[in-house]
Amino acid sequence: MSANNAFHIAVLAGDGIGPEVMTPAIEVLRKIETKSDLRFRFTEAPAGANNYLATGKSMPDSTIKLCEEADAILLGACGLPSVRYPDNTEIAPQIELRFIFDLYAGVRPARLIPGVPSPIVGADKRGIDLVVIRESTEGLFASMGKGVVTHEDARETMVITRRTSERLFDFSFRLAERRKARGKPGALACVDKANVFKAFAFFRGIFDEIAKKHPDVKTDRLYVDACSAMLVKRPWDFDVMVMENMFGDIVSDITASLIGGLGMAPSADIGDKYAVFQPCHGTAPDIMGQGKANPTGMILSAAMMLDWLADKHGVESAAEAGEQIESAVDQVYAAGLKPIEFGGTNGTADITRAVLSAL
Ligand SMILES: NC(=O)c1ccc[n+]([C@@H]2O[C@H](COP(=O)([O-])OP(=O)(O)OC[C@H]3O[C@@H](n4cnc5c(N)ncnc54)[C@H](O)[C@@H]3O)[C@@H](O)[C@H]2O)c1
Repeated sequence: MSANNAFHIAVLAGDGIGPEVMTPAIEVLRKIETKSDLRFRFTEAPAGANNYLATGKSMPDSTIKLCEEADAILLGACGLPSVRYPDNTEIAPQIELRFIFDLYAGVRPARLIPGVPSPIVGADKRGIDLVVIRESTEGLFASMGKGVVTHEDARETMVITRRTSERLFDFSFRLAERRKARGKPGALACVDKANVFKAFAFFRGIFDEIAKKHPDVKTDRLYVDACSAMLVKRPWDFDVMVMENMFGDIVSDITASLIGGLGMAPSADIGDKYAVFQPCHGTAPDIMGQGKANPTGMILSAAMMLDWLADKHGVESAAEAGEQIESAVDQVYAAGLKPIEFGGTNGTADITRAVLSAL
């Protein structure tokens, strides 16, 4: 779009509860328009398992073109366990987009919102406010669609490159520095398995090189197994963590559970030029169509999108709008909202209504 406060957003609602959580996020952004100078044009496009059933493709070329032209991409969730390619893997355009648009930094914040129950004893008092950065274009996922399976064995190859690792660590150190400037610890831990695999020793070596450029950021190096144990014992000790794709896939689901559940966790897949914003969760076929989906992660992903647009285009009001959404969400949970997801009675409509009215 032309004016620098007007943004064209590609909307890929996807499958299952994807469209159910996307509608509230769009309503929240429409509300933001009434309170700010920001303007949005939303263009919806198909992607996912249902599109595959209808057309034989995970997404049409027109969806990719739209994503290329838009200022940012909002994605619900894609895939259904019952819909598979002939090799028995699932339809996953959300992963294809990361490769197509070189979205190497998967940013997965986990902040325990006051009033939301955490399964970790003491978290209500100590708080949880950390970020997992999941490399999103290589690692074990570089093998997606390329694994070799015979009757006797199956092989998948992990790839870690210097170019992507350097950009990933630069991004991670910058994020740690930004958090430090906002009063958070601003520490960065490299999480790997460098005690066993040469590829991870290589990954850690590049981390050490990049760390020298950022002496103000406190660094740590952890093995993923020990890190996982520490996360469920003392999550408040963590600030920013950076790791390979498969490790990040798993660890970010753990951290989402620490803050109430998958429905609470936002995420962003960020590259040098493009970015996709989507909740951490999948399409939740077990609850789809029942009005039970928690849209908080999707709404907070929209807030992350505004923060990214603000940074990219120098539009201060977009950053303010992102903060307004976050504080509206904080307000409704402090007031006692309790999603069905963690034992309460509030479904998608209640949560949406509450956030809209807090805004
Ligand atoms: N980014 C994505 O698009 C993405 C991510 C993960 C899984 N998937 C796909 O989603 C499908 C289901 O996968 P899964 O069951 O492993 O993971 P899932 O995240 O869809 O669901 C796991 C559990 O969490 C619950 N849950 C998830 N989101 C919720 C929400 N917003 N509100 C309330 N409860 C919620 C579900 O009901 C389920 O019990 C699969 O086809 C998978 O491939 C897609």
